[in-house]
Amino acid sequence: MKKLYIKTFGCQMNENDAERVYLLLKDNFKPVDNPEEADLILINTCSVREKPEHKLYSEIGRYKELKLRRPEIIIGAMGCVAQQEGERLFERFPYLDLVLGTQGFYRIREALEELIKTGKPVAYTELKEDFKIPLVLPEDNSKKMKPKRVKAYISIMQGCDNFCTYCIVPYVRGREISRPPEEILKEAEELVKKEGVKEITLLGQNVNSYGLKESGYPDFADLLVMLFQIEGLFRIRFTTSHPKDLSEKLMRVIAENPKVCKHIHLPLQAGSNKILKRMNRKYTKEEYLEKVEKLRSLCPEIAITSDIIVGFPGESEEDFLETLDMLEKVRFHEVFSFKYSDRPFTSARKFEDKVSEEIKEARLKKVHEVQARITEEIYGSYVGKEVEVLVEGKSERDPQKLTGRTTTNVVVNFTAPRTGLEGALVKVLITEAGKHSLKGEYKKTLVF
Ligand code: SAH
Ligand code: SF4
Ligand code: F3S
Repeated sequence: MKKLYIKTFGCQMNENDAERVYLLLKDNFKPVDNPEEADLILINTCSVREKPEHKLYSEIGRYKELKLRRPEIIIGAMGCVAQQEGERLFERFPYLDLVLGTQGFYRIREALEELIKTGKPVAYTELKEDFKIPLVLPEDNSKKMKPKRVKAYISIMQGCDNFCTYCIVPYVRGREISRPPEEILKEAEELVKKEGVKEITLLGQNVNSYGLKESGYPDFADLLVMLFQIEGLFRIRFTTSHPKDLSEKLMRVIAENPKVCKHIHLPLQAGSNKILKRMNRKYTKEEYLEKVEKLRSLCPEIAITSDIIVGFPGESEEDFLETLDMLEKVRFHEVFSFKYSDRPFTSARKFEDKVSEEIKEARLKKVHEVQARITEEIYGSYVGKEVEVLVEGKSERDPQKLTGRTTTNVVVNFTAPRTGLEGALVKVLITEAGKHSLKGEYKKTLVF
């Protein structure tokens, strides 16, 4: 068996793609944690902001020395920067052997054969609108003694049609394509049956628009209902939801079915209508608040998280204060905030009224401050309550403890009478709230 090392940057879609590469190569390669040992190294790249893109260039640079020492090693780039830069990466890094785009990576076996046959670097970076996402089924681990996986991702769609003016994703992931529902169901069933998976997270840039472009496909709410039927699956999560497409039908499915986790990632991006319009988000802050209110009236326990961009071109101090005001009004469980960054291909990069780095930095700090307080208050309100936790394993920081998440996606570290509870749904009494997680005591096992 040859050895494969994949270093993944970026979002969960990239993590899921890395998993797919492992599965596509599983007959000849086994995964290793140390690139020094590997025969094939893949760097799975992200270009959503400038910083991760730069990080990645230094990552590729790290392998130069390895390649000089062991020229037989194969080094490749995949993911969004591979898609964005294509063959240009070979000029910058002459020791790269493969460049595989966000659709091209499915042809990894063919790419390796071509490389070996021709001895020349190979790039597959075509982005087709009618691309059919191949079905890659999980490995059958049911007869092995190896620890089972508690959680898994399934990409239910690829690409994005929304063209928010700051965002590179539609250019590097292509047009939105939904996978056939029966393939998603099959993949989910196999993950549960063969790998013992208890929680599945459905992935898409905008899961709310799943199936809408296809005739005869269920919509996202109906897809969730289809997946509930899988026996042995305890929990379903999904990300990301675009506020403009969040329907009341979906809100009801979330509220009414115990298998759907009570958490929604609903990126607001900005609080000022002027900025939202310039971002091409297609909703106003009033519409956003209305949806949040409706959602909470149907499902009071739901946790809402968000992404915020500060310093979008033209964002004045008043506009920014409206973002802070929205944080106070909505009270998100957690917020991921970013400084606006110019990206290739996007229309915002041509906007002239850019905000200075200094102001962006100060605004980011302010968002962190305000949100840290809100998160602390919300986490504090869990103390004294009993919550359901899906046990993921031992806590990394304190191996004496177990770790898992609430249905609202908050990490809980807790003491338990024994180990071996991985994959169980347990009741935990919350005793203490930290900044990023909760602490608790095991009460009882609900389902195993
Ligand atoms: N599809 C998802 C998110 C995709 S990218 C959605 O629509 O919400 C993840 C996050 O990165 C975005 O929500 C946004 O907050 C941030 N982001 C994307 N492009 C950016 C840019 N050019 N500068 C700063 N942040 C950006
Ligand atoms: Fe980017 Fe907007 Fe699509 Fe999200 S919805 S991936 S932010 S273009
Ligand atoms: Fe990054 Fe591509 Fe995901 S740009 S955030 S890896 S879709």
